[in-house]
Amino acid sequence: MSRLTRVEGLLYGGDYNPEQWPEEVWQEDAALMREAGVSLATVGVFSWARLQPGPDAWDFGWFDRLLDLLHAHGIAVDLATATASPPAWLVRAHPDVLPVTADGVRLEFGSRQHYCPSSPVYRNAALTLTRKLAERYGDHPALALWHVHNEYGDHVTECFCPRSADHFRAWLRDRYGTVDGLNHAWGTGFWSQRYGTYDEIEPPRTAPGPVNPTQLLDWRRFCSDALLGLHRAERAVLAEITPDVPATTNFMSMFKPLDYWKWAAHEDFVSDDAYPDPADPEAHVTASLNYDLMRSLKQGTPWLLMEQAPSAVSWRPVNVPKKPGLQRLWSLQAVARGADGVLYFQWRASRAGAEKYHSALLPHGGTASRGWRETVRFGAELARLAEVAGSRVTADVAIVLDWDAWWALEADDHPSARMRWPELLRPWYAALHARGVTIDFVPPHADPTRYRAVLAPNLHLLRTADAARLTSYVRDGGHLVCGPFSGVVDEHDHIHDGGAPGPLADLLGLRVDEFWPVPDGDRVRLASGAEATLWTEWIEPTTAAVHDSYATGPLAGQPAVTRNQAGEGAAWYLSCHLPDAVGDVLDRAHRAAGRGRGPDAGGPGAAQDAAYAQKSRMIRGGVGPAIAYCVSRTDTAPVDGVRCAAVPLPPTQP
Ligand code: GAL
Repeated sequence: MSRLTRVEGLLYGGDYNPEQWPEEVWQEDAALMREAGVSLATVGVFSWARLQPGPDAWDFGWFDRLLDLLHAHGIAVDLATATASPPAWLVRAHPDVLPVTADGVRLEFGSRQHYCPSSPVYRNAALTLTRKLAERYGDHPALALWHVHNEYGDHVTECFCPRSADHFRAWLRDRYGTVDGLNHAWGTGFWSQRYGTYDEIEPPRTAPGPVNPTQLLDWRRFCSDALLGLHRAERAVLAEITPDVPATTNFMSMFKPLDYWKWAAHEDFVSDDAYPDPADPEAHVTASLNYDLMRSLKQGTPWLLMEQAPSAVSWRPVNVPKKPGLQRLWSLQAVARGADGVLYFQWRASRAGAEKYHSALLPHGGTASRGWRETVRFGAELARLAEVAGSRVTADVAIVLDWDAWWALEADDHPSARMRWPELLRPWYAALHARGVTIDFVPPHADPTRYRAVLAPNLHLLRTADAARLTSYVRDGGHLVCGPFSGVVDEHDHIHDGGAPGPLADLLGLRVDEFWPVPDGDRVRLASGAEATLWTEWIEPTTAAVHDSYATGPLAGQPAVTRNQAGEGAAWYLSCHLPDAVGDVLDRAHRAAGRGRGPDAGGPGAAQDAAYAQKSRMIRGGVGPAIAYCVSRTDTAPVDGVRCAAVPLPPTQP
């Protein structure tokens, strides 16, 4: 039995949108799904208007027949609550369901996700629909999983209407109690922004100049929480009626608007939609990073690749298909990083609508197509890997990810607008990926003691308690490598007393005197030959030893990279952004750590090999390690159709 649902083995299938097809086609679909080895079909994602054609009209007959048909063919159902695209009659009767932008523009019907997260009308209608579906299909034998809503925040992450304003004020009252508390947190002594009552507060709509940064930070927190509130409300209905059916909502990889640490706590398991770009030669690194995050969100438990494209998508300016073998390779990559299933958008290619050029498991060309042959071949291959399901991938190096810090980092009116979390993180992750080191992500409040090394490419916002935890971790023998512009502000986005690195000053053994961002296009050389872009800092070591210095630019001769021995461990600081050379610093940190708790204590790739060896132990018989090894190496193989085909196939007869 799989860890995710009652369906055994690694799940295989995808979104199936039957309302786009006459019922005769469903028969063919079900038969072909069986032929392809599909075990799970996601249905109903965009069925609201068909299921509820009017306020008091319900039409479930066609859906009954569909579920019965799938069940008769042995295909389990991931049943959507269908709430992501409200029907026209609802928004015409209640136009304030539609969301409003920061400029006051009300977004029209005619796409999807056209709802205000704080609209009581939308919420009630969504919960009524969820309840109807749960009551009707809770006992249906096809039901294996609830697919709650679809990609919260995909198109609309925030709404600035009066209802949202009320909701925001209530959220702020909960957070701060008195308005004085809010005035302090928001630093409203600045620019005469003081509030006398909560009623004077509005969302951060478009204003004449820079908006209060703490107001913006709280707005981001609120918007993530507002959508989470909707999600939890649907989950509560499902939990009440079908307590034994697992439920998940599909995340969108490392997605800035939603704090997935908070969200993941409400999932039975994490699921993800991932669309790496076949035109990007480094797409497999991006995918790997996102998959490691998905595995980490629920502490290493298996997750589900809920959506990916079998070949091209339809929403990039240029939509390049996947070369033969690439979808197999990238699917195995997800499995290697802990996914217990591989699903796609979508089963049958649409003939109408905005996604008619999107690839599908069953392309427009039908069973005569190359895509279909890959669909069938990969379904059979995944079935042979069934015993991987439920096994764990482990890592002993962690990267700290904090949505609050991300949001605070990317606020306006900073020393440089170029300091963006994905750009700062990327070289660190890529360096470790290239060295075969498996990475977990951890939130800043996690206990890091089980990791040999903790990396913080950026912790712009840092709470004192989290800094204290990192300090004890290092003093007890851990290794921390911290990137620039960290420890600058507290949870209210106020600069820490004494400036950066705030509560990390003793641990890092230095103070930051001044930030020296690098102008666009410039590069600053270090004594080691490494080159910095975007950012440098004038730092003053107190107890830290200097490991590299600036060789050119205004800071020539000043320290750039330091290491501070603290108790049994060490804390490294990079005062600059090293897009190509961060791996060298990590190597140095590894060497200095010896064979203790340093990231490569077992040699390069040891962590990854150990993780996959563990996975392989889950596979019975002598062929197990061969399968696991093949899977483990897929994500480091070059992204090239011919080379992909060279990745060894697991034996066909275990
Ligand atoms: C996802 C979405 C699907 C489909 C897909 C196309 O974001 O959940 O419904 O639109 O993208 O790539």
